Amino acid sequence: MPSAQTAAERIAELRSEIDAHNYRYYVLDEPSVPDAEYDRLFNELKALEAEHPELVTPESPTQRVGGAALAAFGQVRHEVPMLSLGNAFDEQDLLDFDRRVRDGLDLPGGDLFSAGAEVEYSCEPKLDGLAVSLLYENGHLVRGATRGDGSTGEDISANVRTVRNIPLKLHGSGWPSVLEVRGEIYMPKAGFEALNARQVESGGKPFANPRNAAAGSLRQLDPKITAARPLELCAYGVGRSDGELPDTHVGILNALREWGLPISRELKLAKGVVECRAYYEAIGEKRDALAYEIDGVVFKVNSVAQQRELGFRAREPRWAIAHKFPAREEITELLGVEFQVGRTGAITPVARLKPVQVAGVTVSNATLHNMDEVARLGVMIGDTVIVRRAGDVIPQILGVIAERRPAHARPVHVPERCPVCGSAVERTQLIKRSKGRESVSEGSIYRCVGRLACQAQLKQAIIHFVSRRAMDIDGLGDKIVEQLVDRGLVGSPADLYCLSYEQIVELEGFADLSTRNLLDAIDASRKPTLARFIFALGIPDVGEETAKLLARALGSLDRIACALPDVLVYLPDVGLEVAHEIHSFFEDEHNRTVIAQLRERGVELQGEGELHPEFAACATLAGLLDKLNIPFIASTGAQRLAERFGSLDAIIAADWLDLRQVERLTEKAARSLRDYFDKSANAERARAIEAQLREFGMHWESERKSVEGLPLAGQTWVLTGTLDSMSRDDAKARLEALGAKVSGSVSAKTSVVVAGPGAGSKLTKANELGLTVLDEETFLRHLGQLQA
Ligand code: IVH
Repeated sequence: MPSAQTAAERIAELRSEIDAHNYRYYVLDEPSVPDAEYDRLFNELKALEAEHPELVTPESPTQRVGGAALAAFGQVRHEVPMLSLGNAFDEQDLLDFDRRVRDGLDLPGGDLFSAGAEVEYSCEPKLDGLAVSLLYENGHLVRGATRGDGSTGEDISANVRTVRNIPLKLHGSGWPSVLEVRGEIYMPKAGFEALNARQVESGGKPFANPRNAAAGSLRQLDPKITAARPLELCAYGVGRSDGELPDTHVGILNALREWGLPISRELKLAKGVVECRAYYEAIGEKRDALAYEIDGVVFKVNSVAQQRELGFRAREPRWAIAHKFPAREEITELLGVEFQVGRTGAITPVARLKPVQVAGVTVSNATLHNMDEVARLGVMIGDTVIVRRAGDVIPQILGVIAERRPAHARPVHVPERCPVCGSAVERTQLIKRSKGRESVSEGSIYRCVGRLACQAQLKQAIIHFVSRRAMDIDGLGDKIVEQLVDRGLVGSPADLYCLSYEQIVELEGFADLSTRNLLDAIDASRKPTLARFIFALGIPDVGEETAKLLARALGSLDRIACALPDVLVYLPDVGLEVAHEIHSFFEDEHNRTVIAQLRERGVELQGEGELHPEFAACATLAGLLDKLNIPFIASTGAQRLAERFGSLDAIIAADWLDLRQVERLTEKAARSLRDYFDKSANAERARAIEAQLREFGMHWESERKSVEGLPLAGQTWVLTGTLDSMSRDDAKARLEALGAKVSGSVSAKTSVVVAGPGAGSKLTKANELGLTVLDEETFLRHLGQLQA
């Protein structure tokens, strides 16, 4: 702060700067500064206000955090009632609306020879949120209210003040001294997803949709809760006002925008109903890409004079209409839950619904993903549920209408036995490893343990095996696979390669030619690339990309099959979970047999080769240390350790003092490393990884400069006391340059001790052990000789 400037001046300056950035960001959608700069201004303002609490005003941008909680909301009467809109569900409804408007305005209608007079309409998306009224007096936001029943709403002033894009003070000039802005408060899709994730994480119930989330957030008595919710306003009109306003709706919205209020970026003018319909279609196309949910578009007669002429009917304006999109959410009854068995045995609950029309399609099934989702939704059979269908995605259950739960509702249970093969169903806890801690629970899945003995899994596995991106066996469609499995001709992918002409020709829909074609196709698939083959095996979580990566990096099936999970995680994008899936797939006896049979029956992998140099390059000692996830050892620390010790064994053997010699390795890190390798299981695991990497042909270059051939190679020196002619660090560097290791502690392994004045216990110990002890002078002479 320049010294001539007072705190009050700087505060005023910061506030107007922050307001201007907010305006550019929220209203103009043109952020003017990076977030970091914005944060800096904001924090400066917060700090100044903390120093000068007397200068805090309710309009300061820092006050969006929400004030004290209320006991109840007050009531607000809307002097100008908040109306609702009539709906058009199809083109005819829209044409009828336009006809009524033109009749009301006494405009000539069109006929076969002329288009008739066209009305100018404004077009806006219909946002799916909550209608609010914002009252500005002399440019200051003084009240915010919900719509309520249209004549009386609730006073939610404290809450609306926390909504970031609502100006607390109007910008510019020319606004009426009383101005009531109307608009929709909504929650953008991204904010909604993030909020729900947080809700679930903290053990709360997620919101069914952004609309409910917005409503729930605004109806909080504690404005601090509202402040933490990602709400936004979109202004779409004016209620009360005591001054001159532009004479068109679009003019009014543009004026609101000038005054700092956000309006829709999709606002357009249409001449006549045909252009309205085109707008409806265009926004419909864009619907999924919009950052917020909409349930239709709103058309309003643009001329305010014409609006007045048309007036109202009951509680709806005659000059506006909502053209709704087909609803994407409907309610229906959950009749039951069935369990499907997937390719990897995962048991997935599928909702059987009382058929309902959603966005033009009859929906009778919906996915429930997994049992965690069932628990999260708290859904019971017999419940009334909200189903959503958007685009091509499988319909989903969003939530339960708890009030409608019937007395006979029953909970959803996972079957104890696989519904297809009767094998046991096993629960697997999904784990996520995070640095330092072993594992964090991340939900669970249920799996049928029957593997290929389970017909459902077998069929899916074979369908996958023969698919185009896998072994690519042309002409082996799902129906044929089902027949092959049902007739007991195929019990594993390997059996495909011993199918006979007689067996195939017997199948439904086969004749001589088609049989020969299928046999040719099977034969042609015998030479897959390694990547295709790996993908075809259907290892859980191993998609095409991972398969390619494995093939490229490790080069051979044998290497992939024996790779330790800890080695697999060297591959980019392979996490520990996937690594374990791969490892246990190849550990499995049955899987090994099938692979052996495939090879016996003529499947020959193409292009097996060497370990990829990129993989070799990342398998360094530093990389290995880093991958062990030792607490407090980050990649730079790992790098220094590798440089200093040169081998895993040396690091495992290093004592605490040796470790403390490593440049900038903190005491915490050194202790943590020691503790880690003191556990023999850890040391063994690290050695196993190292051994496998070597076995794969990796001879990792020692990251330590080679000391071989240097005069002090193999010696360990200890420096103690002070040296006059050089610092201890210099002495150490010179010794290391000659190949010595410099240690912090004296032991029987110590070669030489250099003792300056002030040397204490180390010198005593050296003498006790009978080691060579040099004073500074002798040391220098020795160095001089060696370097000469
Ligand atoms: S105009 C007199 N414009 O839809 C006109 N409403 O069904 C009053 N809504 O309560 C509303 N987006 O909550 C208007 N661009 C928009 C809108 C919109 C959403 C909501 C609003 C209103 C309801 C009417």
